[in-house]
Amino acid sequence: MGIISGICGCLRRRLMVTPATADGGAENSSDLFFKLEQLQIATNFFSDINQLGHGGFGPVYKGLMSNGEQVAVKKLSLNSRQGLKEFTNEVKLLLRVQHKNLVMLLGCCVEGPEKMLVYEYLPNRSLDYFLFDKNKSPLVDWSKRFRIVKGVARGLVYLHEEAPERIIHRDIKASNILLDDALNPKISDFGLARLFPGEETHLNTFKISGTHGYMAPEYAIHGYLSVKTDVFSFGVLLLEIVSGRKNHDKFLGSEKADLLNYAWNLFQAGKSEELVDESLEKYNSEEAILCVQLGLLCCQASVSSRPDMNTVHVMVSSDSFTLPKPGKPGIHGRVSHWTSTTTSAGFTNITNGSTTRTGGATRAEAIGEDYSRNSISCSSIDEGR
Ligand SMILES: Nc1ncnc2c1ncn2[C@@H]1O[C@H](COP(=O)(O)OP(=O)(O)OP(=O)(O)O)[C@@H](O)[C@H]1O
Ligand SMILES: [Mg+2]
Repeated sequence: MGIISGICGCLRRRLMVTPATADGGAENSSDLFFKLEQLQIATNFFSDINQLGHGGFGPVYKGLMSNGEQVAVKKLSLNSRQGLKEFTNEVKLLLRVQHKNLVMLLGCCVEGPEKMLVYEYLPNRSLDYFLFDKNKSPLVDWSKRFRIVKGVARGLVYLHEEAPERIIHRDIKASNILLDDALNPKISDFGLARLFPGEETHLNTFKISGTHGYMAPEYAIHGYLSVKTDVFSFGVLLLEIVSGRKNHDKFLGSEKADLLNYAWNLFQAGKSEELVDESLEKYNSEEAILCVQLGLLCCQASVSSRPDMNTVHVMVSSDSFTLPKPGKPGIHGRVSHWTSTTTSAGFTNITNGSTTRTGGATRAEAIGEDYSRNSISCSSIDEGR
């Protein structure tokens, strides 16, 4: 029932925002094109006021279509060597990739100098806006965080196992998890790498890059890409969701600066709960401990020691799953040594797996370093089936 209503919802929304030149069935490639003029009007000629943000591929604008539908227009400012036909084929594939935990692509525009992608608009923007802002992070309480974890895992299972073609995201991170009005997660920017083949020398393409701090070591160092690349990034994201901090924050001091290192030390000392975001008044203790252990498992240096996303999803959805014990996680080229000291925060009132925080060290609100993309010289692509 849920699945059917989800699909109907997708189709309904897609029909509401009809590309200007639509004149045939779903297989007609003109169905996916928006007119430049239409998008110019919708975004106030790509005005700064309409700009939602700027990522590695260019700016994103909020647009209001003539039928009242809100959209997000992503201007791809890279010069892709890909021809229009190949670009169109890739967009067609991505249009068929539909799941409730993925941002819906509505179509594209290739009239101007830049290519553009038109997405559904998500009113709560991205997870990073909440997670890393101490004023907003309490709004995403524990149950919402755990729901976000499950939703992202489910979306990745779909991309890896169920989509028309296997898609490795390559850039799972907090800013690529968008939130709907009920703070349900939707993965954005999936399949973007497919639109830019053969640009090995460009710093910004997904084919050769991810984001520092989230990249699996084998991908960062050797360019080896597999579904387990996404599993590693998911593990880092999971630890960020639990802790409400960025994966690297030098203002926290050497002991805590690297999230993976810090989480591993706490786990070994049996103090995983000390990682939980201090801004959360209440949280489910069992779930939090599970998330720390699972995050570390996903971040194992050895690819084969990481679970696949299907297993991850089962692990977070089932009560009766016993998690394997993780070993030391992969350092992925940004931490040169491991520390072993930990500090303790105060926790009391543990009832029914729900822990109320009463004390604990107050952490200086620090703005972590923003890690930019990392260039990689070679890439082994393993996306097909
Ligand atoms: N469909 C959307 N609805 C609402 N806001 C969006 C949408 N897509 C993107 N945004 C906002 O625009 C910002 C910029 O997105 P963009 O994907 O370009 O950059 P990024 O995610 O920070 O980096 P990357 O290029 O690695 O994806 C996001 O942080 C998000 O807040
Ligand atoms: Mg993005």
